[in-house]
Amino acid sequence: MPDKKVIHMNAYAIPEISENVFWVGSKDWNRRLFDALIPLPQGTTYNAYFVKGNEKTALIDSVNPGFEKELEGKIEQISSVKDLDYLVMNHAEPDHSGSIPYILNLAPKAVLVTTEKGAKMATMYHNIPQERMMIVKQGDSLDLGGKTLKFVEAPWLHWPETMFTFLEEDRVLFSCDFFGAHTAFGFYDDDVEDLISLAKRYFGEIMMPFKGLGKKGLEKARELDPLIIAPSHGPLYRNPERIFEAYSDWTVGKTKEKVIIPYVSMWNSTENMVKVIVETLIAEGIEVCLYNLANADIGDIAKDLVDSRGIVVGTPTLLGGMHPLALNAVNLAKVLRPPFKYAAALSSYGWGGGALNQLQKILETTKLEIVGAVDVNGPCKEEDFDKVRELGMELARKIKEDSE
Ligand SMILES: Cc1cc2nc3c(=O)[nH]c(=O)nc-3n(C[C@H](O)[C@H](O)[C@H](O)COP(=O)(O)O)c2cc1C
Ligand SMILES: [Fe+2]
Ligand SMILES: [Fe+2]
Repeated sequence: MPDKKVIHMNAYAIPEISENVFWVGSKDWNRRLFDALIPLPQGTTYNAYFVKGNEKTALIDSVNPGFEKELEGKIEQISSVKDLDYLVMNHAEPDHSGSIPYILNLAPKAVLVTTEKGAKMATMYHNIPQERMMIVKQGDSLDLGGKTLKFVEAPWLHWPETMFTFLEEDRVLFSCDFFGAHTAFGFYDDDVEDLISLAKRYFGEIMMPFKGLGKKGLEKARELDPLIIAPSHGPLYRNPERIFEAYSDWTVGKTKEKVIIPYVSMWNSTENMVKVIVETLIAEGIEVCLYNLANADIGDIAKDLVDSRGIVVGTPTLLGGMHPLALNAVNLAKVLRPPFKYAAALSSYGWGGGALNQLQKILETTKLEIVGAVDVNGPCKEEDFDKVRELGMELARKIKEDSE
């Protein structure tokens, strides 16, 4: 095999999103996993932006480690990196902060601009000395000469230190992870057909546990009345209302007459019960999303957890407890804190059982109302299917009667 050739680029695409505001981010087309957990079917982007004022320049966020040279090359096409004045860090997670040490090293007078918590994290992750940091709080602003950056604290979107940066003259909102979507495709929102679905998946994975603060973040974003929302993952919104509308449902946990059914089955007994409850729910007019955990994409599950009113877990007993794939999915669903209200369980066991006992202990620590469970010894008999049908009817009734 010949050595892999490194291509040295000398011309990058640096779209100008508003006058003297450039996209200098990277597209990671081939990345397939995030946080060692979340599948990325369309890769992702690390959006970074360069703002050129009459007197000063600022870089808004940076890129994932490994893309530093690309970031440098892009900035060089606009202005010399060594003259950079400010590097704004909206979020300390390495997909955005990872190239900060590299840039600060090239730009001797550049100052890192971040929240107080962000400053602590910049020291913890990157050893940035205090004298190279400027701490900003809610409402502070920075004048670059004809370009004013205003800082808006937006904690827990996605970590405790997060903030938004608003470019006042151009009304561009740099919201970092908030309003993001994992995809390398497209540049503006109207380029990507299934963008709201991708944004919903991202919301489920990243923002759903912090819904309450998401609601506040949304209010702050709306008040700013941006012309463009420039998040750090995925396309920019030239139509902010599109994502505002979606977030206004998701951040209040608005649910549909919809049930998500993550299940696993080794010898089909649980699966046969699951099939019966699926048919029952559909016949009752309930939307059903079925995921076989042996091959499901947990990002899809996160997406459907955003607005499902009910969940049915199907798991056999394996070594005295739940099947590990079901245990993993239920634990994940719990920590993502979806707005679902009603739960049911279907299970099959060979001798002592134990899956349902374990599941019940987990569900007891949530606000879910457990509508019922069917636990069958071995394969299902006709009378077991009747019980499953009854459970399905009862779950459908609860879901339809729920007045949101
Ligand atoms: C690897 C393995 C471990 C199992 N462990 C238990 C167990 O600890 N207790 C029990 O009651 N049944 C146990 N069983 C039996 C299954 O729970 C039983 O076969 C059940 O009907 C399988 O449901 P399924 O067809 O949906 O996979 C085990 C089966 C397998 C294959
Ligand atoms: Fe993040
Ligand atoms: Fe991120």
